[in-house]
Amino acid sequence: MIRIPDSALVLLIGASGSGKSTFAARHFDAETVISSDQLRGALAGDEGDQHATDAAFARLHQWLDARLAAGALSVVDATNVEWMRRTELVRRARQQGRSAIGITFDLPLDLCLARNAARSRSVRAAVIRRQHDELRRGLDRLDLEGFTAVYVLRNEAEVEGAVVQIEKGPVARAL
Ligand SMILES: Nc1ncnc2c1ncn2[C@@H]1O[C@H](COP(=O)(O)OP(=O)(O)OP(=O)(O)O)[C@@H](O)[C@H]1O
Ligand SMILES: [Mg+2]
Repeated sequence: MIRIPDSALVLLIGASGSGKSTFAARHFDAETVISSDQLRGALAGDEGDQHATDAAFARLHQWLDARLAAGALSVVDATNVEWMRRTELVRRARQQGRSAIGITFDLPLDLCLARNAARSRSVRAAVIRRQHDELRRGLDRLDLEGFTAVYVLRNEAEVEGAVVQIEKGPVARAL
């Protein structure tokens, strides 16, 4: 059971194609999810336009800070495989006195590659390999990054069977 305080920051962590957005759509209300791809799309007209990455993350941080300050559940849907990106997000939650929960999609590389190949907007295989490597190298240090809790899903069955429980805290301020 994945327990999440309703004022927490949730980081989805996993290579492209590992199923983060699918998981988010299944377990969280759409308005709680902040997606770097959607922000890139809104800023550049193309979700895959990597040139828009810096601008997308600047917006993501602003939006996240406002939600965290209001005590609103915030799910960041980005690969988050780089420890520096994770640390920056966790720091923002801590600054507002919020919990930071990591949900990691440690799925086999071949599965991410196969799912990605079947998508209309596919990411280059080399990029996914690099993300997968970086995720695996970072797994051991996740516990040292300031998260309140980190859950690691290691195969399709664990993802399929995951139960997310959002737990009520003090009443959140309206945004
Ligand atoms: N549990 C699942 N079972 C079967 N197919 C899945 C599952 N989760 C995701 N998929 C499929 O895999 C593909 C990638 O999933 P998704 O878009 O959720 O990945 P992602 O981690 O958000 O990738 P990105 O980082 O590129 O946004 C999609 O086509 C999706 O339908
Ligand atoms: Mg996605």
